[in-house]
Amino acid sequence: MPFQTLRGTTDLLAHDLTSWRRLESSALQIAQRYGYQELRTPVMEDAALFLRSVGETTDIVQKEMFRFTDRGGHDIVLRPEGTAPVVRAYLQHHLHKTEGFAKLFYLGPMFRAERPQAGRLRQFHQFGAEAIGSVSPWVDVEIITLCVHTLLESGVADATVWLASMGCRDDQARGAQHLKDRLAPHRATLCEDCQNRFDRNIFRVLDCKQPGCHALAQDAVNSLERQPGLPPTPFALCEACVAHFDTVRHGLNTAGIAFDDAHVFARGLDYYTRTVFEVRSPRLGAQDAVAAGGRYDHLVEEFGGPSLGACGFAAGIERVLLAARPVDPVPVATARAGVYVAIPPKSNVMSEAFRLAQRLRQQGTRTTMDYDGRSLKAQFREADQLHCQVVAILGEQEVNAGSVTMKDLAGGEQRTLPLDDFMKAVAA
Ligand code: HAM
Repeated sequence: MPFQTLRGTTDLLAHDLTSWRRLESSALQIAQRYGYQELRTPVMEDAALFLRSVGETTDIVQKEMFRFTDRGGHDIVLRPEGTAPVVRAYLQHHLHKTEGFAKLFYLGPMFRAERPQAGRLRQFHQFGAEAIGSVSPWVDVEIITLCVHTLLESGVADATVWLASMGCRDDQARGAQHLKDRLAPHRATLCEDCQNRFDRNIFRVLDCKQPGCHALAQDAVNSLERQPGLPPTPFALCEACVAHFDTVRHGLNTAGIAFDDAHVFARGLDYYTRTVFEVRSPRLGAQDAVAAGGRYDHLVEEFGGPSLGACGFAAGIERVLLAARPVDPVPVATARAGVYVAIPPKSNVMSEAFRLAQRLRQQGTRTTMDYDGRSLKAQFREADQLHCQVVAILGEQEVNAGSVTMKDLAGGEQRTLPLDDFMKAVAA
């Protein structure tokens, strides 16, 4: 085969698209029930949008962006995620002035040049929601509830919500210093990646898969004096962040959303403050996050807007479909429907047959026809495979008489009708 899809990209055939469409439309409907409106942004954006938001030192920006210079010299990327474009659109269309608090839903392809493996693609698809314009912890509760609700409706039954707080920017600065102080004496024993992370973004060490690095980071975290009763965080939270986190956990309990707050984890994007969460499924392998999100209270301002809080999530559609319990196979359409326009071989009636097919399609009848002059037997076989209800035979005799010979594939009955009567018969 000379041409194949690029590594990490896939074709979706009709039978794949049945579950895709079902998921996409149910995600949109549920989001609308929570008051979110759909927004679509381009797949290409200015590279600076992601450098400023996702963060220059993150893996996404450092090594995973599909980035190119166009002929006008613009630095462009295929979007690796949806949050920064949504915030850009929110400001560009002045939604902060017209709507203030805006709740937006989106869906579409994202691009990351990662090493492809099960559940990790280079073109993958997300649906997500962003609530922009409020600092209330109840917005975080709504976002997590919406995320879990949508996953449950999609058949992801056994996933766990990991919840944590990243604190505010001051907490993060203090926390980073604490981790650095603790890890500095062991710096030489960290893996090469973590040695780089040490300066660029020390919190990433918490996510290192190397047991040595992980144990050291865990020790550093455990050495923290934490507020009693609070789940572990990578650093101590200030009073306001503790109160925010408490309300989020209380709100989730109120909403009946189970969560696990016993883990310290870091997110791979820089914009987060306070609440962060990941939804993990035991049905997925190493790439076990079905969905993730959190609060980002500085992004709107960093993009030149007013100081407004925001929170959101995104779910990976491929991963949701992998993690969903197998749904009953969609019943193959056994009921016959539609018309097959068959032309007896050697009849010179292609124009009339095409016109008949077009009239049928315009009146709403699914219609297929043969363009290759095959035998009537072959055309009947194809009509049967396509589950057509009627074969309309149109030969020179029929054209001259202004009629159609109609064979009902279910009943087997065959009759010749004037064209208008035939049109009425198949429309009924
Ligand atoms: P993220 O954790 O980078 O967050 O991605 C969210 C979800 O997208 C992941 O949990 C996963 O299901 C899916 N995903 C990510 N990368 C891949 C990949 N290479 N192949 C397949 N699926 C993938 C974000 O993108 C944030 N924008 C989420 C957010 C919204 N935070 C606030 N608002």
